[in-house]
Amino acid sequence: MSAGIAVFISGRGSNLLSILESCKDPSYPAHVALVLSNRPDATGLDIAKQYGVPTEVVEHAAYKNRDDFDEDINQRLMEYKIDLIALAGFMRVLGPAFVEQWSGRILNIHPSLLPKYKGLNPQKRALENGETQSGCSVHFVVPDVDSGAVIAQRCVPILAGDTPETLSERILEEEHILYPQAIRRVVQSLSGS
Ligand code: GRF
Repeated sequence: MSAGIAVFISGRGSNLLSILESCKDPSYPAHVALVLSNRPDATGLDIAKQYGVPTEVVEHAAYKNRDDFDEDINQRLMEYKIDLIALAGFMRVLGPAFVEQWSGRILNIHPSLLPKYKGLNPQKRALENGETQSGCSVHFVVPDVDSGAVIAQRCVPILAGDTPETLSERILEEEHILYPQAIRRVVQSLSGS
């Protein structure tokens, strides 16, 4: 049976697009059942609509506190019968109770070779530190940001003259290969196949 994924976004949605494209393969073990954004202006919402995927917007400012925000998200995930969450550029930290509840079924992609460069601007910091390579990681989400077990990684070289932008682009190409592969692997292990 095909697993229902909820992809959480806040912006551009290029990883969402790569996941949606992978789902076109009939042998892919999952489908995107929901795209959830905390920003109504996220361009990734337009991508979801083009692919006929339901969207939900949850604006954190509209909630009294983080627990209410997380609880509302959870209810929507139940409505859409979600099996797995893929965070793809989602710029809100989810609370520990929510994360524990989805333990082993919530993934994130980060543009660094974790455990190096957790948090914001990892590409810029890798350049400032004179690294010769960088890359991207898909990992399980735990309450501490970018700290869960790494599922898969891909490397890229850092080239002379790289800027945060050129490095980000090179990493992003690898993200688009890595995330669908990592999701496939997790879904297969959850279903025992
Ligand atoms: C990606 O670089 C991802 O690694 C990071 O946020 C960015 C999201 O890009 N977590 P997009 O919205 O998928 O294009």
